[in-house]
Amino acid sequence: MHIKSTTFVKSATKPANYPPAALPEIAFAGRSNVGKSSLINVLVNRKALVRTSSTPGRTQLLNFFDINGAFSLVDLPGYGFAKVPLAVKKEWGPMVRTYLERRESLRAVVVLFDIRRVPREEDLQLLDWLEELSVPTIPVITKIDKVSRGQRLKQIGPILEATGLDRDDFTLFSAPTREGMEEIWERVEAALEA
Ligand code: GTP
Ligand code: MG
Repeated sequence: MHIKSTTFVKSATKPANYPPAALPEIAFAGRSNVGKSSLINVLVNRKALVRTSSTPGRTQLLNFFDINGAFSLVDLPGYGFAKVPLAVKKEWGPMVRTYLERRESLRAVVVLFDIRRVPREEDLQLLDWLEELSVPTIPVITKIDKVSRGQRLKQIGPILEATGLDRDDFTLFSAPTREGMEEIWERVEAALEA
C-alpha cells in the first residue's frame, strides 16, 4: 500500500457524530494497551498519527482517520483496563456494539491479541459480536517481539484455545520490528476490495 496522505478526521462516541460513511472502513479493536494505535501508526508509516500511551485506557473514543482519500481506519476504544472508571467501562460495550451494527461502510475489524495474555471475556464477546453481525475479522497476535521465536507456538496455545481460531487465522505482528505488516496490509486490502 502506497500511503500518500493520512489525516485525522474526528473522534466520536455515537452514530450521529460519526463522519459520513463515504469510504470503505477498517476498524481496530482489542483490549487497552494491546497495541491498536501502534499498529495503525506502523501501517501508515507515521510515528504518531495516533497517540500511543504506556498508560492504558487512553483511547475512549472512536477515532476516524482518512487514508489517501480512499478509505478510513478507525481506532476503537480499548477495553478491560482495571483502572478505567466503571462509568467508562460500561460505555465500551454499547459504544462498540452500536458501531459494529450501524456502520454501513465497515468492511472488516482487525482484532488484536497480546501474545503474552490469555484472552478474556471482552475479547470473546467482541469475536461473538463480529460473528453474529457477519463482520469479516482479521485476527492479529501482537507484541511477538516480547517472546523468543522458540516460545511463540507455546505462547499462542491459550489464545487458540480460548478463541477457537486456528494458527493460520492469525497474523503475527510486532510494532518495533514491523514483522507481519505486509501480511496485515494484504488482508486489509482484500477486505477493502471485497
Ligand atoms: P489503548 O489506546 O489504551 O486502548 O491502547 P492501544 O491498544 O492503542 O495500545 P498502544 O498502541 O498505545 O500501545 C500500548 C503500549 O504497548 C505502548 O507502550 C506501545 O509502545 C507498546 N506496544 C505496542 N505494540 C507493541 C509491540 O508490537 N511490541 C512491543 N514490544 N510493544 C508494543
Ligand atoms: Mg490507543
